Amino acid sequence: GDAAGQALPVESRPFASYGSALRIALPQAPRAGQLLTLLIDYEAGEGPGVCWLSPEQTAGKQKPYMYTQGQAVLNRSFFPCFDTPSVKFTYSATVKVPEGFTAVMSATSWEKQKDNTFVFKMSQPIPSYLIALVVGDIVSADVGPRSRVWAEPCLIEAAKKEYDGVIEEFLVVGEKLFGPYVWGRYDILFMPPSFPFGGMENPCLTFVTPCLLAGDRSLVDVIIHEISHSWFGNLVTNATWGEFWLNEGFTMYAQRRISTEVYGLPYTCLEAATGRALLRQHMDATGEDHPLNKLRVVIKPGLWRINPDDTYNETPYEKGYCFVSYLAHLVGNQSKFDAFLQAYVNRFKFQSITADDTLGFFLEYFPELKEKGVDSIPGFEFDRWLNTPGWPPYLPDLAPGQQLMRPADELAELWAADGLNMEAIEAVDITGWRTYQLVYFLDQVLQKSPLPEGNVKRLSKMYPKISKAQNAELRLRWCQIVLKNNLEAEYSKVKDFLHSQGKQKYTLPLYRAMWGGSEATRALAMETFSATAPQLHVNVQNYVKKILGLGGAE
Ligand code: BES
Ligand code: ZN
Repeated sequence: GDAAGQALPVESRPFASYGSALRIALPQAPRAGQLLTLLIDYEAGEGPGVCWLSPEQTAGKQKPYMYTQGQAVLNRSFFPCFDTPSVKFTYSATVKVPEGFTAVMSATSWEKQKDNTFVFKMSQPIPSYLIALVVGDIVSADVGPRSRVWAEPCLIEAAKKEYDGVIEEFLVVGEKLFGPYVWGRYDILFMPPSFPFGGMENPCLTFVTPCLLAGDRSLVDVIIHEISHSWFGNLVTNATWGEFWLNEGFTMYAQRRISTEVYGLPYTCLEAATGRALLRQHMDATGEDHPLNKLRVVIKPGLWRINPDDTYNETPYEKGYCFVSYLAHLVGNQSKFDAFLQAYVNRFKFQSITADDTLGFFLEYFPELKEKGVDSIPGFEFDRWLNTPGWPPYLPDLAPGQQLMRPADELAELWAADGLNMEAIEAVDITGWRTYQLVYFLDQVLQKSPLPEGNVKRLSKMYPKISKAQNAELRLRWCQIVLKNNLEAEYSKVKDFLHSQGKQKYTLPLYRAMWGGSEATRALAMETFSATAPQLHVNVQNYVKKILGLGGAE
């Protein structure tokens, strides 16, 4: 308007430990509906949202790499924005990179122009945390009609092999259950080993840890999870990070619905049982009454202002999953509940909502349940689900997984015994077990640990498939067992695993175990951390520092 081209006074104001407010003074108050264009010239600095990796921190070790990670509130150090999931917008970006590099973004279209310049457009409204950029020496390969994998050249063969021909089925089943896939492409980018998450659902382009390259597709549940966010999280979004469970709890439910359709109920229940074990471990470690063990977390200005990134734990995932399963249980009929989920997505797509919107819509959709007052059944009140910390009042029945879990339960029982019954142990053949059966078995062993003297050493020798595993989920459990049983001979495996990757959910439990252990494991923790810290994402670095009493995150 009149003020075209006018320079405006700007000022940075304190906000919280995780960011400051950019205040721009407008010449006059804008009128409602008036279009206002602000041009902000800025440089991204050392903030946690933009990660600059040296060549040594990549798989190929030849060229540097940069990536951004927006969730939860990190993109404010990438670009000035309304960094809240309650605001959605489209975006476009022009990215010029040096010769020999490729840029990719979470966008519905991209085009390479001359001078190594890439132009991206996201034509659907998304919240700030879903904007993502990678610049690196990366190449791609098709794995389906609307999917390709991206990776550094040295990983691309493995990446293609892992997921060739399997992605489309998940998308098709997702669309059948939850409605149209609105994002056009679904591509997967394999990140450098220090990527702090298993997966990140950046629209059109999921980012994943290279740990998924197990060679046998056994960790594909992460991909199904990120695909499920295409409806829950990316279309229907939590309006505040205090209700992160709306994203993750519904996504866990959707993930397991797709998994049930593709792999069947027994396998899916087995996977869900490993999720429940994680929730148990988390609640044991933090205490059930911890304020973060509520589905609705209070994040508001005050003395105790919690950083939204600190709400990343098992509660929004697995307790959230239990609550959504409870809603399905109230309905009592899977296809009716599936239809509800589809109607829910359709009702709130491209919006940001709170649990009150979700539950209000649930009761509106099922008037007979509203009539019955299902929101206030003693012990299962919706309000209690949301606002009381602790173990879920309702757990979905995982009995269909018993056929896969029972042998693992029994074997763990045998290994925990005082005098080992080797005959019975040798009679169990684990060579055909799926990865998640082994994971479940190891969780049981961990729960019973420390085992009687000598048992774990024996177990290690008996099952090299476990103790020498390359699969990250198995390695994590094996390291936890090694630490809990003080198996000094294998401490180097903990070190090797922590050197090989930097995923937060693998890294923190191992440091907690080392710090809670002996003099020797504490020394191992310090030694490992000082060698690997520069490779870790700064948030993960800070969490580890806090565990080790080195004065990191609050
Ligand atoms: N959106 C999350 C990752 C995330 C959460 C990043 C909070 C930043 C803050 C992603 O969808 C996720 O949940 N990943 C899981 C996958 C698992 C549950 C299958 C992970 O990384 O472990
Ligand atoms: Zn998720």
